[in-house]
Amino acid sequence: MDKVRILDTTLRDGEQSPGFSMNIQEKLRMAKQLERLGVDIIEAGFPIASKGDFEAVKLIAESIKDSRISALARANNNDIDRAWEAIKNARYPFIHTFISTSDIHLTHQLRKSREEVFEMAISAVKRAKSYTEDIEFSAMDATRSDRDYLCQIVEAAIDAGATTVNIPDTVGYTIPSEYGDLISYIRQKVSNIDKAVISVHCHNDLGLSTANSIAAVLNGSRQVECTINGIGERAGNTSLEEVVMILYTRKDYTHLETNIKTEEIFKTSKLLTRITGVGVQPNKAIVGSNAFAHESGIHTDGLLKDKITYEIMTPESVGVKKSSIVLGKHSGRHALRDELKNRGYELTDENLNKIFDRFKELADKKKNLYEEDLETIVAEIILRAPDKYKLVNMSVISGSFAIPTATIQMEIENKQIKDVGMGDGPVDAAFKTIAKITGTKSKLLKYSVDSITGGTDAQGEVTVRLEEEGKEIVGRGAHNDIIMASVLAYINALNRLEYLKKNPVKVTYTE
Ligand code: KIV
Ligand code: ZN
Repeated sequence: MDKVRILDTTLRDGEQSPGFSMNIQEKLRMAKQLERLGVDIIEAGFPIASKGDFEAVKLIAESIKDSRISALARANNNDIDRAWEAIKNARYPFIHTFISTSDIHLTHQLRKSREEVFEMAISAVKRAKSYTEDIEFSAMDATRSDRDYLCQIVEAAIDAGATTVNIPDTVGYTIPSEYGDLISYIRQKVSNIDKAVISVHCHNDLGLSTANSIAAVLNGSRQVECTINGIGERAGNTSLEEVVMILYTRKDYTHLETNIKTEEIFKTSKLLTRITGVGVQPNKAIVGSNAFAHESGIHTDGLLKDKITYEIMTPESVGVKKSSIVLGKHSGRHALRDELKNRGYELTDENLNKIFDRFKELADKKKNLYEEDLETIVAEIILRAPDKYKLVNMSVISGSFAIPTATIQMEIENKQIKDVGMGDGPVDAAFKTIAKITGTKSKLLKYSVDSITGGTDAQGEVTVRLEEEGKEIVGRGAHNDIIMASVLAYINALNRLEYLKKNPVKVTYTE
């Protein structure tokens, strides 16, 4: 199988975009992860841009042993000398020099003739070549350049020593068939093209960077320049994870592969998010949080029967632990039963149907469903029994000076019992007093408060998770006094625990 080389420019094109700057230590951490990922060439930065950029490229060049280290330089001596200074200690140094070739850039930005730009390009490649063997020449804005001029400059750059020639879609303007055709044209017209690798570097302004890069490799390009999570100038660059996973998943069609260790992809994406504080959208291909999450009833049903029905690559192949079935309003009965089975509840069809109906009702009302919602429904439906413990009265004292104290009156099997207790806060004092009155020894595993309505008069909903004798249960309470809601939740959980102790949920799977 033919190999496609991956040049990652997260630390250069990615880092130069707003919101993605990194300090030197963060760049080094990222570079080390890119090396573990198996990136062939790490574009570490643009040394002439600043002292910080220079130092970062130098440090990365001296620390990375497996990947080539590329330094970017415009087509002039100062840039190239500075780039070389930064990477000269790298095990595999790589200089990347560039100049625009489109008439739009020549006229409106560089204000130079085609001949002048031609000379500058060739002299830059020669200077870079005097330092090291591995040279990339980029014809910036190639997709808006005159094709024949582009071919002439590419041919001369190869003659001058470029081992890679890059055909960037700098402004994200091209479309797949056109770009594929351009690569094919270059392969036909440039007489010495077999002496260099054709690289592509696509921006995502029209959302086509991945499609364009794939069209290029299908037409003979053998290096793709990309970034983790697709970060980069404006709408970003081609995302590494997408290109790599397309080649991996569709090798039956492309007959191409990369050196990337795909299982490191998710970790690399997460590291970038942690460093920059910028995450990807949930539906981002490959690395989004929904990329391996299934909710719709039809999909989850198929998935539970055989993963091949709705999964074209395994989550493990990109380093995600496993695909998740998300329970929500689109979930089907099959997914719900599977989830409940994983939680140890094996239900009769009748109970499953009741739980399913209640679950759908709640899913229509609430945006996010948590596991406690499901457990509450299960408890309401299968743990039905008259409450053993009832709250009659409650009063708590708390504040910055008082020792938190709770006085609680309860009714247990027709007997009224009152007691008082102290704790680390009003909720703790109340829970301890209730445990004393009921003689229960449960452990509080979770306590959370949600506001059901807005404002300071909001209804608070408290959820507690208790464990006793190896049995776990969830309790809920709602009130506009948070302490009261907490006490109601706690007593609710104690009642359910009491029922569970006497009536262990039976395993009666009926299908
Ligand atoms: O987008 C572009 O053309 C670039 C070049 C420097 C390769 O980033
Ligand atoms: Zn770019």
